[in-house]
Amino acid sequence: MGLILETRDLTKRFGAFQAVSNVNLKVEQGAIHALIGPNGAGKTTTFNLLTKFLQPTSGQILFNGRDITSAQPQDLPKAGIVRSFQISAVFGEMTVAQNVRVALQRQLKIALQFWRPLSSLSQLNDKADSLLEAVGLRDFRSIKAKELSYGRKRALEIATTLAMDPELLLLDEPTSGLGHEDVDRIAALIQSFAKTRTLLMVEHNLSVVSSLCDRITVLTRGSILVEGNYNTVSRDPAVIEAYLGTGHA
Ligand SMILES: Nc1ncnc2c1ncn2[C@@H]1O[C@H](COP(=O)(O)OP(=O)(O)OP(=O)(O)O)[C@@H](O)[C@H]1O
Ligand SMILES: [Mg+2]
Repeated sequence: MGLILETRDLTKRFGAFQAVSNVNLKVEQGAIHALIGPNGAGKTTTFNLLTKFLQPTSGQILFNGRDITSAQPQDLPKAGIVRSFQISAVFGEMTVAQNVRVALQRQLKIALQFWRPLSSLSQLNDKADSLLEAVGLRDFRSIKAKELSYGRKRALEIATTLAMDPELLLLDEPTSGLGHEDVDRIAALIQSFAKTRTLLMVEHNLSVVSSLCDRITVLTRGSILVEGNYNTVSRDPAVIEAYLGTGHA
């Protein structure tokens, strides 16, 4: 399997402070890859660089071997990279089903042909139903999104990103703030998505990381400390020290 995403000496400075230093990240096609590390390690900054919310100070980003370093954020979904948005991106006054349909419509806009609007529309409804089913929101389809619990809002948010049918999905702390049951639901969703796609996520919940992720990159102070599977990484003395040093476990 080839690399879907690669960074070469990716670096970001904020004034004199280097938040990301010469990061060479390699994400394999089909992987569930986690980016972990103590607070302030540069995880979110790296994500923002990958999704073009920030411009790197230096270095390169390659997606399927193509240099996307100077792409615009709005070009990424079309290229196949989608990041999860915050819950604020969910439209509270619309129903759960409408939220998913809007996301699908955005994706299908180009594909919609004026001479066959009806078949496209029913295709849209089928897709919306299967996405709602997948995230466990079928029974909630007709209620307003703002009435969902926090965990279900997260599930809806993920459904709207899946609606965009990304080749590579980036999730920043998908399980943060969720109770056990919701964590399990999101974890199952991630697993089923990753059967055919690639996922890169920042995740603080190490039990989620250990059960889901094939490969883990540990960042500390802007640099890659260690990479490998959970067993390798969790036993590494440097990793243990990095986590203990910040009081973060
Ligand atoms: N816009 C900015 N200007 C100045 N410094 C910044 C900026 N954004 C991030 N930083 C600094 O860069 C470092 C890395 O921050 P980042 O948010 O990437 O860490 P993180 O690994 O996501 O941490 P957390 O686990 O707390 O989310 C931190 O020291 C942070 O204060
Ligand atoms: Mg962060």
